[in-house]
Amino acid sequence: MKFKKWRNPYMDLVTTKPSYILPQRDDAFEDAALQTLRERISQHSSLILEIGSGSGGHLISLAERNPDIFYLGFELRYKRVFRTAEKAELQGLSNLTIVRGDARMLPGILGELKASGCYINFPDPWGKKGWKKHRIMNEEYLSLLYQYLSPEGFLSYKTDHQEYFRSTVELVERLPHFEVIEHTEHLHESPFIDANITTEFESLFLSQGLPIYYLKALRGGERSQRVL
Ligand SMILES: C[S@@+](CC[C@H](N)C(=O)[O-])C[C@H]1O[C@@H](n2cnc3c(N)ncnc32)[C@H](O)[C@@H]1O
Repeated sequence: MKFKKWRNPYMDLVTTKPSYILPQRDDAFEDAALQTLRERISQHSSLILEIGSGSGGHLISLAERNPDIFYLGFELRYKRVFRTAEKAELQGLSNLTIVRGDARMLPGILGELKASGCYINFPDPWGKKGWKKHRIMNEEYLSLLYQYLSPEGFLSYKTDHQEYFRSTVELVERLPHFEVIEHTEHLHESPFIDANITTEFESLFLSQGLPIYYLKALRGGERSQRVL
């Protein structure tokens, strides 16, 4: 008996929301769609990125609170991208787009544009031995982000993974590109909690009683503030 090859239904569903999900064909983005996106971004006061935006709760809360800012999410998983677009549509948001694809495609999407901030919330820790090379918080990706952040642009990072956090703090402190300005191993017991928007994965980790690690760095210098 012949089995029909399974196709993820969300691969087709994402094409039904071109106002929220950047249209692509054969893994390439159409020039017209890119141009429209860049024009929309330029009509806002600034651009904020979220890498691995998941099901979109964090990105949507930000977009609701700040209608003059444009939010651009990158997410690999079709279903999570579609869920984000559904929620954004329901809220009638016009200041948000999700790129269904790898966040390393940033240069091709932004062109000459720069972002004034970037959130990376609970990136996959690739905890198994030998897999750390897949981590997004590495020197190469941070150097790329540096090129697409405006001066004084921020990088915000949260994780539940102590070793990933500590090695990222070390990396960011070593790089000349960024200066760490906020840094805690207990976000929810720190003064930084006031500005926090809890993500879907964060809720899960909190329900398991896990501490949330948080770092904020600025592109370029500024005063440093630490709570350990
Ligand atoms: C652990 S989840 C966290 C999701 C969300 N930020 C949250 O906190 O609820 C990590 C997400 O990053 C996405 N992701 C991993 N690598 C990525 C990449 N290179 N580009 C874009 N998204 C990526 C995964 O598909 C996944 O949805």
